[in-house]
Amino acid sequence: MDLSTTYLGLALPHPLVSGAGPMADQLDTVRRLEDAGAAAIVMRSLFEEQIMLEEETAFAVTEPHGHSSGEAGSYFPPADAFALGPDEYLEHLRRIKAAVRVPVIGSLNGVTPGGWLRYARLMEDAGADAIELNVYTLATDPTEDARTVEDRTVAMVREVRSGLRIPVAVKLSPFYTSFANFAHRLDDAGPAGLVLFNRFWQPGIDVEELEVRRELHLSDSSELPLRLRWLAILSGDVRASLAVTGGVHTVLDVVQSVMAGAHAVQMVSALLHHGPQHLTTLRHELAQWLEAHEYPSLGAMCGSMSMRSCPDPQAYERANYMLMLQSWKVAGGA
Ligand SMILES: Cc1cc2nc3c(=O)[nH]c(=O)nc-3n(C[C@H](O)[C@H](O)[C@H](O)COP(=O)(O)O)c2cc1C
Repeated sequence: MDLSTTYLGLALPHPLVSGAGPMADQLDTVRRLEDAGAAAIVMRSLFEEQIMLEEETAFAVTEPHGHSSGEAGSYFPPADAFALGPDEYLEHLRRIKAAVRVPVIGSLNGVTPGGWLRYARLMEDAGADAIELNVYTLATDPTEDARTVEDRTVAMVREVRSGLRIPVAVKLSPFYTSFANFAHRLDDAGPAGLVLFNRFWQPGIDVEELEVRRELHLSDSSELPLRLRWLAILSGDVRASLAVTGGVHTVLDVVQSVMAGAHAVQMVSALLHHGPQHLTTLRHELAQWLEAHEYPSLGAMCGSMSMRSCPDPQAYERANYMLMLQSWKVAGGA
């Protein structure tokens, strides 16, 4: 079965990708991912805060009047809280590239356009096949409107794209006021791909200790439908290729994602839970599923249930929401 796909202009043998996270931290695991058949591997992110902190520290050491802005700096996690510092990150990327043949995608995570974005270029020089720019921001400033937040992100994408030869993907959250409009504005900035959607830890409250609980739970398949809807809405309507991230665990999750329009399917929780071997299982099951349903190739299925292609486009929209609200009855009622 032909499972091939093109994502970020990279010809991949199938869509199953190891997403950004700790899977690529150890060379041994990277080799296991390749052996299990990962189509590409995304490294964990290097954060704007890490880069800024390192540059600030270097400045303080080398300049007699250099000072670290103690107050602002105190909001940053300490440098040793990160798995890889900026230099280590680039070195690790070089080692991964020397160890495996599969495409390796570096990841940058930040919110403001600026000098730190030159690390995209350094990642390219270190051998990255593409860059994933994770632009998650929490818009907590009441004086800043949605357009200002979005403009900043578009400016970041333009800055990273300019001067890079390798493709750039933008990893998004769903928390934008008018997502379709924003996705199109981003698309105009020319990234090779959009990755829908990042997933974040959400704070809980420990009511006994009166503390904010910081826990990162792994996902499950119930998180996928949010992604499916927006993939289906954007599929065929943006120039960028599309990847799904968030809630892909089973072969049916993969099939749905591709039908909605995903060219690549990223997984982190499922691989942390089952190990790299899960990629082999899913690839096998995907081929079987396509054969059983008489698809000639994965490409023939891609986007077949997008809003443009599916027989019932309103199903993704408000009309369906109104219908669904009528569908529940109270237990024990007439
Ligand atoms: C332990 C862990 C670490 C992660 N680190 C990163 C990261 O460094 N950069 C990033 O963009 N996403 C990171 N993510 C988010 C994942 O790439 C992914 O988008 C998210 O977990 C949803 O996919 P999943 O349901 O397959 O886990 C991380 C997720 C987990 C669970």
